[in-house]
Amino acid sequence: MSHSAKSNRLTRSLAAIAVIALASMSVSAFSQQAAKPAEDLPPGAMQAKATTACLECHEARIILQQRLTNAAWTKEVDKMVKWGAVVDGNDRDALIDYLSTNFSPDKGPYEAPRTSIEKGSGK
Ligand code: HEC
Repeated sequence: MSHSAKSNRLTRSLAAIAVIALASMSVSAFSQQAAKPAEDLPPGAMQAKATTACLECHEARIILQQRLTNAAWTKEVDKMVKWGAVVDGNDRDALIDYLSTNFSPDKGPYEAPRTSIEKGSGK
């Protein structure tokens, strides 16, 4: 009697724990599903360093969609460093070159990746 009451309580609290665990699992599964496909910075000598320094606080997209001159990239990089980006002084110029080569005003407009049907897939 007292023993079975105890194990009853134990069963109930185990069930409660299971419910909490399941609930938190489905929350994390949901947020993973909702995440947009992550884009990469373009290949190049500075790709790895830029990925480490620049994708710490935001996605690549915020960079990929820029079309800036070398002077504007210089300001942008210096601003991000002021805000906390970790860029080695020896890498600063190479990083600015990398960004202004890949994201210059002569590049075509940024095309956001779509998860639905691709454009021109009629072949
Ligand atoms: C310490 C955090 C942090 C790091 C590291 C960082 N950024 Fe940012 N960046 C921000 C914030 C905050 C914003 C503005 C808020 C937003 O729109 O998300 C931003 C915005 C931008 C923008 C949009 C234009 C603007 O100025 O708002 C560009 C381009 C950009 N960052 C490039 C870079 C590059 C290149 C690097 C690597 C050198 C970098 N960021 C590293 C925090 C950071």
